[in-house]
Amino acid sequence: MAAVYQYSQESAHVKRSVLRELLRHAVDPNIISLATGLPSSELLPTRQFDECVRTVIARDGASAMQYSPQIMPLREWLADYMTRRGVPSEAENIYITNGCQHNMSLLSRLFVNLGDTAVIEEITYVGVMQATGGHGAALRLVPSNLSTGVDIDALEAAFAQEPRPKLAILIPDFHNPLGVSITPEKRQRAAQLANQYQVPLVEDDPYSPLRFIGEMPAPIKHYDTDGYVFYSGSFSKILAPGVRCGWIVAPVDVVRYIERLREADDLETSTLIQRSIYEFLRRGWLEEHLAQLNEANKIRRDTLLAALDTHLGSYATWTEPEGGIFVWVTLPEHINTWDMVKDAIDHQVIYVPGGEFSVNGGYKNTMRLNFSNVSVANLSEGIRRLGGVIQKYL
Ligand SMILES: Cc1ncc(COP(=O)(O)O)c(C=O)c1O
Repeated sequence: MAAVYQYSQESAHVKRSVLRELLRHAVDPNIISLATGLPSSELLPTRQFDECVRTVIARDGASAMQYSPQIMPLREWLADYMTRRGVPSEAENIYITNGCQHNMSLLSRLFVNLGDTAVIEEITYVGVMQATGGHGAALRLVPSNLSTGVDIDALEAAFAQEPRPKLAILIPDFHNPLGVSITPEKRQRAAQLANQYQVPLVEDDPYSPLRFIGEMPAPIKHYDTDGYVFYSGSFSKILAPGVRCGWIVAPVDVVRYIERLREADDLETSTLIQRSIYEFLRRGWLEEHLAQLNEANKIRRDTLLAALDTHLGSYATWTEPEGGIFVWVTLPEHINTWDMVKDAIDHQVIYVPGGEFSVNGGYKNTMRLNFSNVSVANLSEGIRRLGGVIQKYL
């Protein structure tokens, strides 16, 4: 007889990621996928990373392959990096994890009990929903402006409302899926509100170093006065998603709590990976890699925006990000981008329907397009194909 499992409440809460389903189509070479959230495969620093791993194993031998405390030089490097970005930090404030998703999940588990309230954006990365609602939090939503990011007055209202939220998560730079970054004024206010209302605020930031236009603004954490803002960083988009490594910046006593929670999960982040990443950083290769990546991403973004202008310009609007990897497109009200997906796949192009990122439904006439993992030629051709599909629904 087949087993009948009694699944936990948490497994029932977690939203299935349609993105992962769509990613399966991305491997068909005939389909131009504007649907992924990946850095360009051909730009990943594979040769350099290979050299780093070999160096680490040759130099450190068995200790690179043992259990180990977090790699201190990596924590020190990150503390220095965060300090240079306007977040004065010591190595003890840096906690190494398996990436931004892990950071959100840990911080959510640290502060939120089943049924507590969490504040997130109305349109947000699916992983934010998974880390909050997926852990059984009641969600309180704030809208975002397509040019300036999260609505700060709405954020204040959400913080002030009873029951007081136990956690908030914002994506301040090159938002996934909107592509928008929040202004320095809004960052300052977000930090001030977190402190005033004593709401732990997670600054989910996998994208800020991917800026190809303008200066990088200071993180929200820069404006933190009492320690209510938790910075969450990752090597996924700036080095490679496959290294599965990120970090949290937090006060030392909170780091100790996170450490305990995390040990129950998976003990620690691979010491081999931490050492290899540090080797990569020590050699100054991150800067070099980012310069190359951002140059390529800018050309790709420009190509995408030009193609949108040519093929969708008469009826659609879109965000114009100064970095990151996504553009958000709004089509006429009556179009439902979910209804178009099959047609798009038949025409060998694929995108993510914007409704996928909406916590409460709606936004049916929107879509998220990725430009980082698509060649220049395919960006132009993909938007031409997409324009052909949309024509039938106008
Ligand atoms: C906004 C946002 N947060 C978190 C993540 C997860 O990143 P990581 O690979 O560091 O876990 C992603 C990945 O696409 C993301 O877009």
